[in-house]
Amino acid sequence: MRLLFCGDVVGSLGRETITTYLPKLKKKYRPQVTIVNGENSAAGRGITEKIYKKLLQDGADVVTLGNHAWDNHQIFEFIDDAKKMVRPANFPESTTPGVGLVYVKVNQEELAVINLQARSFMTAIDDPFEVIDKLLAEVKTRTKHIFVDFHGETTSEKLAMAWYLDGRVSAIVGTHTHVQTNDARILPQGTGYLTDVGMTGPYNGILGMQRKAVIEKFRTALPHRFEVVEEGDTVLSYCVIDINDTTGKTTKIEANMINPDRPFKD
Ligand SMILES: [Fe+2]
Repeated sequence: MRLLFCGDVVGSLGRETITTYLPKLKKKYRPQVTIVNGENSAAGRGITEKIYKKLLQDGADVVTLGNHAWDNHQIFEFIDDAKKMVRPANFPESTTPGVGLVYVKVNQEELAVINLQARSFMTAIDDPFEVIDKLLAEVKTRTKHIFVDFHGETTSEKLAMAWYLDGRVSAIVGTHTHVQTNDARILPQGTGYLTDVGMTGPYNGILGMQRKAVIEKFRTALPHRFEVVEEGDTVLSYCVIDINDTTGKTTKIEANMINPDRPFKD
């Protein structure tokens, strides 16, 4: 089973980049499942129903989210009907709409897709380690093919989760920082790992936002309003993961980008 995972889609440029390049990437790699992180797809914050449906139409099988999932209020109107979307599973269970786990049919198999959120320098939600233990107890009765999008700020917490899950999930890939890391590897017990897949959208902003306000915020320590970059060069950050159909373990993982410095090649 081959998975294609595209990192955090930011704003209209991110969406346009998916529309342009996702079909080409799918033709090149022929993945059985395509997963896209869409938590910043609506003007850099949150997601709408229209955008969710467009991501599916452009080729995503599942859309994952993160801490910005709730930033566009429209999500509360459609999240419970969005059967191909996951929000972080470790938001408080009794008060959070949506789900943190979905299953995708792949030939005779199923792939479980889980979204989980870290806690270092982020909102103090439920313990992701405890929550993944509970989820895996359920998932393991159904499938060995398990993908985790771990949405987090720090490399150390992501590595800790990866080692905690080695041999227990097929692959765990980080999102949220918008900067792709160069550490794709297979851990000893067969779990594919990448600290962060990176972002999809403006190439010359700062994490997708207009540079001036971000620089001024750091320079002055005063609040500045961040606006998403809406024109110019783009990047699409992704990784491709091959999972053995029998064992559920990763046999290959590689990360890559399409941008003006690394143009798309067939
Ligand atoms: Fe995020």
